[in-house]
Amino acid sequence: MMDIKAIELDLRKLSMTDRHTRIFSALKELKEQDAIIITNDHDPKPLQYLLKAEFKNTFSWEYKKQGPDEWVIEIKKLYPGDSLTAEQKGKREKLKQALKKLHEAPPQDLEKVKKKAVIYFKDTDPKELALVEQELIQEGTSRQEMKRLCDVHLEVMKEQLGVKAKRIKLPAWHPITILKDEHKIIKRNLKKLKRILEKLKTAGSFEKARHQINTLKELSHFFLETEKHHQREEEAIFPRLIAHGVTEPPEIFKEDHVEFKTKKKSLFEITMNAQTKDFKEFVEALSPLIEFLVKNLDDHIYKEDNILYPMSLETLEKDEWKDVRKKFDAIGYCCFVPVDFQPKADPPIYKLSVAGKKKKGR
Ligand SMILES: [Fe+2]
Ligand SMILES: [Fe+2]
Repeated sequence: MMDIKAIELDLRKLSMTDRHTRIFSALKELKEQDAIIITNDHDPKPLQYLLKAEFKNTFSWEYKKQGPDEWVIEIKKLYPGDSLTAEQKGKREKLKQALKKLHEAPPQDLEKVKKKAVIYFKDTDPKELALVEQELIQEGTSRQEMKRLCDVHLEVMKEQLGVKAKRIKLPAWHPITILKDEHKIIKRNLKKLKRILEKLKTAGSFEKARHQINTLKELSHFFLETEKHHQREEEAIFPRLIAHGVTEPPEIFKEDHVEFKTKKKSLFEITMNAQTKDFKEFVEALSPLIEFLVKNLDDHIYKEDNILYPMSLETLEKDEWKDVRKKFDAIGYCCFVPVDFQPKADPPIYKLSVAGKKKKGR
C-alpha cells in the first residue's frame, strides 16, 4: 500500500523569512498524494499565487478552515494527470486503451492493431505518451514488459515523432543540443564498430587484423569515455524530471545505462587483452558485445532524441536549463568541448543613454 504522509506546519510560530524556506523545502520533499497542512493567522493567499507561478498545477490548495482567527490549508502534491481537464483526461484514457490493445495483441494481429492505433497516437506528444506509460506501470505493467512495448509504440509513432523532434531549434550552448550532437558521434562510432566486427570475422589471425584491432582499441576507449554522457543525463536531467512528476522514463533509461556500462567495460578489457586469447575465441567473445551495443545503444539514442529529450524540453522550466548546463560543465564532456554557456535567449537589457533615449545594451 502507498504510504501517504501529511506534514503539519504552523506558520504562526515561524518568522516571515523562515516561513518561505520551510514551506518550499517541505513541498520539494513531497511525493504524489503527500500533503502539507499549514495553519496561519490570516489567509495566505499570496502563497497560493506564488505556488501557481512557481509550480503550475503540481499542487492542490484546499481550505480546511477559513478564519476568522485561524486559517488551515491542505496543499497536496498531485499526480501529473490530476490537474487535467475532462477533455484531456478522456484523450489520455483513449491513448491508454490503445496502448493496452497493442500490448495484448497476439503476434498475428499486431500489424492490424498498429494501423488502428496510429489514429490515437496522431496528436500525442512525447510527454503525454511517457506519462500514460508511467500510469500503466503504476497499474501493474512490469518495467521489463513496458520496455519491450515501448519499441512497438515507437514504431507506430516513428514518423510523427521524427518530424516533431526535427522542429525543435535550440541554441548551441543548450544541454540538449550537446547531448544530441554527442549522439551523432556515438552513432558514427557504432557504425565503425560494426564494420570492424565484420572484418574481424573474416580476418583469421591477429596478424591480419592488426589495423582493425588498433582502431578497436581507440573505439573501446571512446565508448568508456561516453559514460560521462550518461552521467550527465542521470545527474543533471533525470532528478529534475522526477521532481516534475515524470518518474518512470528516467528509471527505464537508467536501467539501459547500467547494461551499456557493463558491456562497454567488457569490450574494453577484451580488446586490451586481445593477444592473450586465441584469435577465434577473441572474435567470439567480442561478437555478442558489439552486436548488443550496435543494436541497443542505437535504439536508446533514438528513444532519447525522439521522446526523452523533447519531453524534457516540455517538462523543465526554461530557467532550469541554465542550471542543467552548469551541472554538465561540472561533470565534464566526452566527445567534444561545447561552446560556452551563452544565454542569448534572455531578453536584451535596455539602458537609458545620457540623452535619455532607449539604447540596446548587452
Ligand atoms: Fe541515455
Ligand atoms: Fe543519450
